[in-house]
Amino acid sequence: MSNSRLKLAILLSGTGRTLDNLVEKSKQGFLKADIVCVASNRSDCLGLQKAKKYGIPAKGFDIKEHVELSKKINDFILKFDPDLIVLAGFLKIYHVPEGYKFRVINIHPSLIPLFSGKGYYGMRVHKAVRESGVKVTGCTVHFVNENYDEGLIIAQRCVPVFAKDTPEDIAERVFKEECKLYPEVINLFAENLIDVKNNKVYIKGE
Ligand code: GRF
Repeated sequence: MSNSRLKLAILLSGTGRTLDNLVEKSKQGFLKADIVCVASNRSDCLGLQKAKKYGIPAKGFDIKEHVELSKKINDFILKFDPDLIVLAGFLKIYHVPEGYKFRVINIHPSLIPLFSGKGYYGMRVHKAVRESGVKVTGCTVHFVNENYDEGLIIAQRCVPVFAKDTPEDIAERVFKEECKLYPEVINLFAENLIDVKNNKVYIKGE
């Protein structure tokens, strides 16, 4: 990847809040990237409608089986020659296309490995955090592999959990942090500052 604006392909399943954030940060000039296409496993989801409104080429594939789904998604997004594939609330297993090792990332709303893996998505994560009694939670950006929330960790951010918090309070605090962290990490890719060696992610200069 060269040190220039990146072309992003976004995958989503839901409301597209992360898409909104990335579009916003790109317009503001903070994000060193442009969104070139959006794909989803649900043709009726709000995120896909938003993408179309933004004028981004977008397509949904109502396919349950994840190998076939990934194939169809990849056939669509690879035509746009993205530099980075960015999962933004994509709730299915995704098979990384050939040539894209360490070029597919996800953001998860907890500090992986806690509250992550199959079944931990959306408010379920924050409810489990609330019930556990932990005093910090956060978000994690990681590389995608063929298991839920399991690829190498690139960056994490913490937020406090207060005794009086509802799961909704925690969700809001975490999402605010996600809105900063994800664009920052994408910019690290744009600046060519991410390196993977011996199964560890290095950020140059850190
Ligand atoms: C974000 O909280 C992110 O952590 C997770 O999906 C959420 C965004 O999805 N991966 P959505 O736009 O609310 O459907």
